[in-house]
Amino acid sequence: MNTAFSRRNLLKSLGVIGTSSMLVHPKELMDLMPDEYRQTPNMGDDNVRLSSNENPYSPSPKMAKAIAELGPDLCRYPNMHFSTLEKMIAEREGVDPAQVVVTSGSREALNAVGLVNSLNGGNIAACMPTYKSLLSYAEHFGALLNISPLDENMGYNLPAIKASLNDETKLVFICNPNNPTGTLLDADELSNFCKEVSTKVPVFVDEVYKDYIEEKDYPSMKGLIDEGYNVIIARTFSKIYGLAGARVGYLMTNKDQATYLRKSLMSGTNILGLKMAMTALEDESFREFSLVKNKQAKQMIYEALDEIGLKYIPSHTNFVFFHTGQPIAQVAKTFADRGVEVGRAFPPFNDWCRISTGTLEEVEVFTTIAKDVFS
Ligand SMILES: Cc1ncc(COP(=O)(O)O)c(C=O)c1O
Repeated sequence: MNTAFSRRNLLKSLGVIGTSSMLVHPKELMDLMPDEYRQTPNMGDDNVRLSSNENPYSPSPKMAKAIAELGPDLCRYPNMHFSTLEKMIAEREGVDPAQVVVTSGSREALNAVGLVNSLNGGNIAACMPTYKSLLSYAEHFGALLNISPLDENMGYNLPAIKASLNDETKLVFICNPNNPTGTLLDADELSNFCKEVSTKVPVFVDEVYKDYIEEKDYPSMKGLIDEGYNVIIARTFSKIYGLAGARVGYLMTNKDQATYLRKSLMSGTNILGLKMAMTALEDESFREFSLVKNKQAKQMIYEALDEIGLKYIPSHTNFVFFHTGQPIAQVAKTFADRGVEVGRAFPPFNDWCRISTGTLEEVEVFTTIAKDVFS
């Protein structure tokens, strides 16, 4: 059951792993973060950037060729290319093209869904910490956040979310695998949750890191769309395809909702992004290369953390969340002083650090510093 907001309750709710959920304003969450935690140092391009879960290996030769050949198309509006990409995505995903909405990065997808589900108030249920874009946008347009803590393994806490739902809940946000913890939900548990809850409110499943999941046959929740469940799935070209700068993502949901959400977008993406995404879908070798490199980089990070004796959460993504036992602001500064950018603070885990998998050379720089700093 939800209790009225108070700082003490919020701290209780978020400061320890537990079961109680809370209606909060993200502003209040930020209040819990000491000033010096709010930003990691702003660094230049020459630094090793392990802060934003990007894929450092792009562009592939195929992609570079496509970029070089794009020139003449730049004077054209991109409109007709949206449907081409939507068809290609639909074919790859095994859904109807009318169920796909291409967006400017998955972030536009998250924001659009946050916006349309908050205009008449109510609350959005989620766990914290997670990727906050949808939640922050919804709050900006009038929704309250109905926040549950992670479970005892720092996993997304579906029972707590279920217990927190009330008549005012407009949407549930699930991030699987979750950012920043890298945890993956049990597929049956998630599927059953979606089936039960989506009969009452839409369930949004952020599957931006789905491509990195190594569990064999781990399913997307997109299969529930054709079974008639009200789920919305978000994916991106920013991670495994290495196109974070080109801004292309997409939603999959039922046709009516897809039509409505398509009309709710602010900009959609541009012709460069659309063409790059089309090329990426045909560049299977780069995708496989990215997966192999990510696995190797993660292994290097695990081995270094094991050697130092720092606890971490086995990750199903392209980043690792580990316990330093030191304030993240201090850790971030130490690394920044040596040319490495690490992830920001994720309250209440202010003495944990999120590190992205860079190139193997970049990871080696990180592990060398980590051994020096933490041993
Ligand atoms: C869980 C999650 N969802 C969505 C996004 C947004 O990514 P993009 O807009 O590049 O697709 C990110 C970015 O890191 C993320 O971690």
